[in-house]
Amino acid sequence: MVDRRPILFFDSGVGGLSVLAPTRALLPRAPIVYAADNAFFPYGLKSEAEIADRVPALLGRLAAHYRPRLIVNACNTACTIALATMRAALDLPVVGTVPAIRPAAQASRTRVIGVLGTEATVRQPYVDRLSADYAADCLVLRHGSARLVELAEADLRGEDTPDDAYRAVLSGLLDQPGGARLDTIVLACTHFPLVAGRLTAVAPRPFAFVDGGAGIARRVAHLTEGQSWPDEPPPGIAVFTGPLDPTPAFRASLARFGLVTFQQF
Ligand code: SIN
Repeated sequence: MVDRRPILFFDSGVGGLSVLAPTRALLPRAPIVYAADNAFFPYGLKSEAEIADRVPALLGRLAAHYRPRLIVNACNTACTIALATMRAALDLPVVGTVPAIRPAAQASRTRVIGVLGTEATVRQPYVDRLSADYAADCLVLRHGSARLVELAEADLRGEDTPDDAYRAVLSGLLDQPGGARLDTIVLACTHFPLVAGRLTAVAPRPFAFVDGGAGIARRVAHLTEGQSWPDEPPPGIAVFTGPLDPTPAFRASLARFGLVTFQQF
């Protein structure tokens, strides 16, 4: 019998699309549900306690409703705070998204790397541990930016976003002591790969931008190896926890990621 259970992607907003895209490329027949907790957006400005209270419980309710085979929590903020709690609370595999510090340290020639995430992500002990385990010989600069999250949301909705705003975000890393030698930047929020082209365009010199999307896609493919998929996947479902303003531009952007049905949860 064909297994029609979807993969459930989860984020506070549209950022998880940067993880959905490489996963769909690897698993084109996978049914997809993409859940955005826009009622509680942005996560990066919430406290650890708020995130830890909300996300595992919400994922439990989403899982009970959509019956996925696997959840991809495509939110660095939620995962660096509560990945273990989520895994303990759910009786299905949860693939997490955490800052790609290891590949960045492997790629850096200057041994100075930057971690660009949300304010909540960059202050997490989880990031201290990743830095100590995988980048002990690097200077690791960190910058939290709620502004870049907003810019990525606006860009996906088809709104104009000024170059200067992206320049200012990069300055948050480059103007720190050691920033002049920085060569590799971890995009430690899934929103940020959606605007990597904009960051590249305004950067004062070339940087390697690193994110975890492709690695997560491979992990999902590995965990679902041997499982069956429908020949023709149903249209992807975009689920929102809060009120929606699905403008034509927003719908068109989501359709590019295979999400054509909208639901409120
Ligand atoms: C946000 O809601 O602030 C973005 C969360 C994230 O992807 O880390």
